[in-house]
Amino acid sequence: MNKYRDLAPSLRTIMTPGPVEVDPRVLRAMSFPILGQFDPEFTHLMNETMEMLRQLFQTNNRRAYPIDGSSRSGIEALLTSLIEPGDRVLVPIYGRFGHLLVEISERCGAEVITMEREWGAVFEPADIIGRIRETGPSLVAMVHGETSTGCMQPLDGIGKACRELGALLVVDAVATVGGVEIKTDEWMLDAVIGGTQKCLSVPAGMAPITYNDRAESKLLKRKKIERGLRDPALSTAMDSTAIRSNYFDLSQLQDYWSPARLNHHTEATSMLYALREGVRLTLEEGLPERAARHKYHERALVAGIQAMGLSLYGDPSCKLPVVTCILIPEEVDGEEVRSMLLDDFGIEIASSFGPLKGQIWRIGTMGFSCSKKNVLHTLGALEATLLRYGCKVPAGEAVQAALEAYALTAVNGAVPAVN
Ligand SMILES: Cc1ncc(COP(=O)(O)O)c(C=O)c1O
Repeated sequence: MNKYRDLAPSLRTIMTPGPVEVDPRVLRAMSFPILGQFDPEFTHLMNETMEMLRQLFQTNNRRAYPIDGSSRSGIEALLTSLIEPGDRVLVPIYGRFGHLLVEISERCGAEVITMEREWGAVFEPADIIGRIRETGPSLVAMVHGETSTGCMQPLDGIGKACRELGALLVVDAVATVGGVEIKTDEWMLDAVIGGTQKCLSVPAGMAPITYNDRAESKLLKRKKIERGLRDPALSTAMDSTAIRSNYFDLSQLQDYWSPARLNHHTEATSMLYALREGVRLTLEEGLPERAARHKYHERALVAGIQAMGLSLYGDPSCKLPVVTCILIPEEVDGEEVRSMLLDDFGIEIASSFGPLKGQIWRIGTMGFSCSKKNVLHTLGALEATLLRYGCKVPAGEAVQAALEAYALTAVNGAVPAVN
C-alpha cells in the first residue's frame, strides 16, 4: 500500500496578488502530449507564442519570448544580459520589488543609485527624469505595478527621457501585464518583463519578456566574448564584459528563439502550451476590454470594502487596479482572519512584507480570479469573519454595495463580456 495519497488539492478561491486561479482552458492545454523541442509542430507553436507576445506587449520588437522560470527569471535574464560590471543603474524604489531590482543589479556588478518614495505612494515622473539627468545612468530599472503596496507608477515621459539621455529603460510589468495595458512601443520602454501567474492566469514557471534593438545591441556587444566561450576554436578567455550567466544569457536565448534554433536548454513544453493558451485567451478577450474588466471588479470590491467601514491603504490616485490593500482593523489579528477565510471559506487573501507586515491585507483581482462571483464571495466571507472576531462592521452592507456598483456599471452599459 502506498502511504502517499492521490493528489487532491482543494479548490480554492484565490484572491491574492498571485499566483491566482488558472483558466480551465490553460489547465487543459497543459495536459496535452509532449512534443520534441525541434519538432516543426512545436517550433510553430513557439513562433505563434512570440507573435502573440508582441501583441500582448503592444510592440513591434523582434524579440518577445519567454524565459523558463518564475517572473524573477525574466528580470534576472534582462539585467544580467544588459548590465556590465561598473555600469551605473538607477532604481526608483516605492516597494519591495524595487529592492529586488537593486539586489539583482548589484549582483551584476552595477554601481546602483536609488531614489526612494515612502510605501503607499509613487514618484512624479518628472522627479525620476530629473534624477536620470543628474546621475547619467546607462540603465534605469523600475516596477510598473508594485504588488507589495498596491500602487502603480505612471511611466509618462520616462522612456522618452531615457532615449534622449542614452539610458536603457527596463520595466517590471509582472503584476500588470494582462490586467492593465502595457504600451511598450508608445511608452518607449526598452525592455519589459511580464508575469504568468497574475493577470494572465497561467501557473508560475515562465516569464515573458520583450526588448528592442537598443537593448539587443548592448547585449550583442558582449556576445562576442561569449561566442568565444561557445566555440573552442575561438578565445576561451572570460572577458570582464562577458555575460556571467549561461542560463540567462539573452544573446544565446534569442538564437534559440529564432529560425536558427541554436540549442540552449530543453524547453518547458507544457508551460509553453499554458502560456500560449493564456495569452490567446487574453487577446481573444481584447486588451482594452480585459483592462476594463479588471477596473469593473476593482470598483465593486472597493465599494464593498468601504461599505464595511474599512480603510484602503495607499494614495488612491496611484492605486494599482489589480491589487487592493486594506488596513487591518486594530481589534483583529490579520493572520487569524486570513486563516479563517482559508479554512472556513476556502478563500485566500494575502498579507504583506517588510514595514507593512501585519498592517495590511492585499486582495488581488487578477485574470481568471477577477470575477463577480469571487468578489461577492470574498466580501461576504470577510464580513462574516470580521463579525466572528468581534469587529463591528455593519452586517450585510458590503455585498449590497458591491451589487450596487455592478448594477450602476450595467446601467452605463459597460458590463464586460467575460465573467
Ligand atoms: C511586481 C513583482 N515583480 C516581481 C515578482 C517576482 O515574481 P516571481 O515570484 O514570479 O519570481 C513579483 C512576485 O510577486 C511581483 O509582484
